[in-house]
Amino acid sequence: MANLELLRQEGCDPSQHIWSRRNFIGLMGWGAVLGSLGVGTLAFGRYMYPRVLFEPRMAFKVGKPEAYRINDVSEEWIEKYRFWIVRTTEGFFALSGICTHLGCTPRWLASENKFKCPCHGSGYRGIDPSDPYPGITGINFEGPAPRPLERYKIGLAEDGQLIVDKSVAFRQEKGEWTKPDAFLKYTG
Ligand code: FES
Repeated sequence: MANLELLRQEGCDPSQHIWSRRNFIGLMGWGAVLGSLGVGTLAFGRYMYPRVLFEPRMAFKVGKPEAYRINDVSEEWIEKYRFWIVRTTEGFFALSGICTHLGCTPRWLASENKFKCPCHGSGYRGIDPSDPYPGITGINFEGPAPRPLERYKIGLAEDGQLIVDKSVAFRQEKGEWTKPDAFLKYTG
């Protein structure tokens, strides 16, 4: 009060220069409103754009079964998806194009009926027509590769196309090549 009197004596209007309690509470109120609006906006943004890790697509349609020759290794998808489609007299499997030594991509050498890795020389078996299921295709037999190539889940999509799911792999040394999804029985 003494301070207000002093200001008045000096010709000042205290109401023009001093924040009243009402002004202060009003300001606090606006601050709270704007603050909660800001928090709400941030929360909405997080809701609309959640921190989700988008995994690359792992399942691929690779055409109708009739498009593949029996007792043949198709190289059509090796560059794009890094697997071969192999058809035997009993059906199909999808063979991984990742060398089990250090991960290079082997080459299919049809004339030698084998897959040969250009990096350190690992070799994997081709097709043995007398053993259509599960077959020897992809089994390592030379070079430093410690185990056979893997096979991926294969099936038929609703539209009749072959579909390969790279998120599911089957390993020969674990006895997985005879699991249902490792081979698609098809004699049509
Ligand atoms: S990466 Fe294939 S043999 Fe080494």
